[in-house]
Amino acid sequence: MSGFDRQAHWQQVYSEKGENRVSWFQERPTISLELIEAVGTPNSAIIDIGGGASRLVDALDGKGYRDLTVLDLSESAVSIAKLRLGQRAAAVKWIVADVTQWQPPTSYDVWHDRAAFHFLTEESDRIAYVERLTKALRSGGHAIIGTFALDGPERCSGLPVVRYDGAQLAARLGPSFALLEMRRHDHQTPWGAIQHFQFSVFERV
Ligand SMILES: C[S@@+](CC[C@H](N)C(=O)[O-])C[C@H]1O[C@@H](n2cnc3c(N)ncnc32)[C@H](O)[C@@H]1O
Repeated sequence: MSGFDRQAHWQQVYSEKGENRVSWFQERPTISLELIEAVGTPNSAIIDIGGGASRLVDALDGKGYRDLTVLDLSESAVSIAKLRLGQRAAAVKWIVADVTQWQPPTSYDVWHDRAAFHFLTEESDRIAYVERLTKALRSGGHAIIGTFALDGPERCSGLPVVRYDGAQLAARLGPSFALLEMRRHDHQTPWGAIQHFQFSVFERV
């Protein structure tokens, strides 16, 4: 993928398709909410990595979570989410950045990523991601990472992905992250196709 402009790709996707004409759209991110509620409290500092235009931030805000950050490469995606949230958007911190280059300004209690990490097909990008995760997550904090499962699609949004199970993800994250749980999840796309995901929960040791 040398010469590939990742940011331009994602800008174009959200500019053309908006929020809900993309395969990953969910009305309600139920599994993410369940997993976050199992490890977080309303005071937890939560960051959604590659959050895009996801409604996770709306749902968390609605449940009284007060310290929310959304990071995404695509300004268009973030604008869609902000517009939808209206006045509530001011209570959220928004970061337009490539996670592999971002310097975390603070530490977080919960790191959530649904379908961003699996796009990192280059070893150097995965290393950079894990460096940021290690720096950003406080000791005892939790990382919830959803990717296509081993029997999930090989591509998404026209791009190749790397598929994982919990053990493979744990090996990738290294010894600073203890795997607590892996759940399989079948996502139904807006046009009715089923995509197999896995969501793994790690504790930063
Ligand atoms: C498949 S979408 C999932 C969006 C959102 N997590 C959801 O569940 O609706 C992948 C998202 O990751 C973002 N993304 C891809 N690579 C990224 C990177 N290197 N840094 C930050 N965001 C990235 C894209 O802009 C896109 O919003």
